[in-house]
Amino acid sequence: MYHDTVLLQNIINELEIKEKGVYVDTTLGGGSVSFEILNRLKGGNLISLDIDTDAINNFKLEFEKKYSKKFISNSMTLESNTITLVNENFSKLKEIILNLGKEKLKINGIIYDLGVSSFQIDNPKKGFSYMSDSDLDMRMDKRLKVTARDLLNGMYEKELSSMFERYSEEPFSKDIARNIVKFRKTKSIERSSDLVSIVKRSIRGQAYLYHHVSRIFQALRIKVNNELGVLSDSLLLLPDILESGGRVVFLTYHSGEDRIIKHYFLHNDNFISLYKKPVTPSDEEISKNRRARSAKMRVYEKK
Ligand SMILES: C[S@@+](CC[C@H](N)C(=O)[O-])C[C@H]1O[C@@H](n2cnc3c(N)ncnc32)[C@H](O)[C@@H]1O
Repeated sequence: MYHDTVLLQNIINELEIKEKGVYVDTTLGGGSVSFEILNRLKGGNLISLDIDTDAINNFKLEFEKKYSKKFISNSMTLESNTITLVNENFSKLKEIILNLGKEKLKINGIIYDLGVSSFQIDNPKKGFSYMSDSDLDMRMDKRLKVTARDLLNGMYEKELSSMFERYSEEPFSKDIARNIVKFRKTKSIERSSDLVSIVKRSIRGQAYLYHHVSRIFQALRIKVNNELGVLSDSLLLLPDILESGGRVVFLTYHSGEDRIIKHYFLHNDNFISLYKKPVTPSDEEISKNRRARSAKMRVYEKK
């Protein structure tokens, strides 16, 4: 499974990994961050979460290739380290840590590398991408009940346009919402190609179609997975679970996520912000990896 992690070395440096420490990777994805943490532990503990069952299963396969050891249950010991995989939402982080045993409650470092992985985008069955014609699903967690298709066919015009404005600041939100409602009078919206054709009909002037399409897909994905809501819930748990001196590193790709994080820590006396402004990838990294262009890293340390 391939995912080119943005600012990988910065993330690892900021976590200041202690050999015997306890670390949580809340967004396992392709596993690069988890493997890097694991490489630096000796007698330590790594807990890796992902809401997407495929990410967990793929990590097990990668692990087997790397260490020639089968990852049979969801927890195993590798040399002197314990690694635990949890297929859950990071909004349940505190319960997860408590369930693993009280002694693990105090964490030395946590990483959130938000959004979707290249693996998810490249898989047409997940419906995140407009690059291939696919079903408009967009659930990272298949236990969720509502898909992007349900939203597109069920929301009122006003709700659709405010969702696009709120989550993607799309200038043609109103026109797109109007054309969605018009489209569904003749047939329901099922495929990503339906949505691309609606956006195409809605934009005017010199607009580059795929800028608008990508914003609309992002807004739907954020809504389907309640991405801003679960992030806010998860932040509230951090003061209780982080050890004094422990660090939390965030990588965001959306201004709404970055704003939530910035405001939460601005009003929280339990943490010190390690950077006044977010760290961004170099031009060189951006030229090699398009996803890096909107990435921002923020780091906080528990007092
Ligand atoms: C950008 S990728 C992480 C990439 C990873 N750091 C790597 O090195 O490959 C984000 C991952 O987080 C997962 N994810 C997103 N929101 C989540 C949530 N609320 N709880 C748990 N996992 C989540 C996604 O399913 C995806 O696999």
